[in-house]
Amino acid sequence: MKTIGVLTSGGDAPGMNAAIRAVVRTGCENGMKVFGINRGYNGLMENDMYEMNLRSVSDIINRGGTILYSARSERFKTEEGMQAAIRVCRERGIDGLVVIGGDGSFRGARDLSLHGVPCVAIPGTIDNDIGCCDKTIGYDTAMNTVVEMVDRIRDTTESHDRCAVVEVMGRGAGYLVLNAGIACGATSILLPEIPFDFERDVIERMKRTQRSNKVHFVVMVSEAIGGVAEMAKRIQKETGVESRATVLGHVQRGGRPTAADRILASNMGFHAVQLLMQGIGNRVVAVQQEKILDFDIYEALKMTKTIDLGLYDMAMQISI
Ligand code: F6P
Repeated sequence: MKTIGVLTSGGDAPGMNAAIRAVVRTGCENGMKVFGINRGYNGLMENDMYEMNLRSVSDIINRGGTILYSARSERFKTEEGMQAAIRVCRERGIDGLVVIGGDGSFRGARDLSLHGVPCVAIPGTIDNDIGCCDKTIGYDTAMNTVVEMVDRIRDTTESHDRCAVVEVMGRGAGYLVLNAGIACGATSILLPEIPFDFERDVIERMKRTQRSNKVHFVVMVSEAIGGVAEMAKRIQKETGVESRATVLGHVQRGGRPTAADRILASNMGFHAVQLLMQGIGNRVVAVQQEKILDFDIYEALKMTKTIDLGLYDMAMQISI
């Protein structure tokens, strides 16, 4: 392949810039022309792109967000949108594409590959909900952000003998809330994968810890469950502990990527271009047990991973 494109799609994630940097530098160092495509598949269909060079990606390894901007595109899901994208690839001479995003973006990459434009997808999402991959780009940073924010909330919660009920992102997946909850020592963690009984898993646990003289509490709740304001009211009414609700929101998506995310993104970006250099497309780059691998996109989309129930049980025993 002589000319490749790179785009970021779906919700942005810290570390996407480090992945773009790796793709551009690997491409350029191997004699390829690399186009940076703006705003995901929208930029591809609208021919909104520019040729990048080694210096286009200077000073971005440390920056959150994505210099290529991101979007979710409805038009790209239509046949008309797909044809527009293919036409632009032909006009620009793009013979391979790196797509950085979540599973919605992977479907687009698979469809484009099936239409003759080989794509390699890189998992970038704070949700960590990609079946074939132990860790996605952005997850480690988001987890550390949640921990930092909850530590701050905890300071004031402690000063006032209160209960903090905190909503954490993750879409339909509980990886972020579970692991951040463990790191924050949350008394209760509610996530979509584990059925819960509010009375037993929140109120009774709080009452039990009250009896051992605990006077301040943190309850962490997945956004897929939501309702933190009502939960705080109920906790206050049933336990007598003054309670406040916080929705962390998009603060979780921003900020400087951690070292772990920068390294993961660099490895994945490098690997993606290596595949395209060999003419291989329709692959998802992944990491399993610290090894960088790749899978057929169609197979990868079918793969699932499960929440470690042992982790949850451990948290419930020690955060009491
Ligand atoms: O997929 C990443 C994510 O941040 C989810 O955790 C969250 O549910 C969603 O994106 C929010 O999307 P938006 O930024 O479009 O509101």
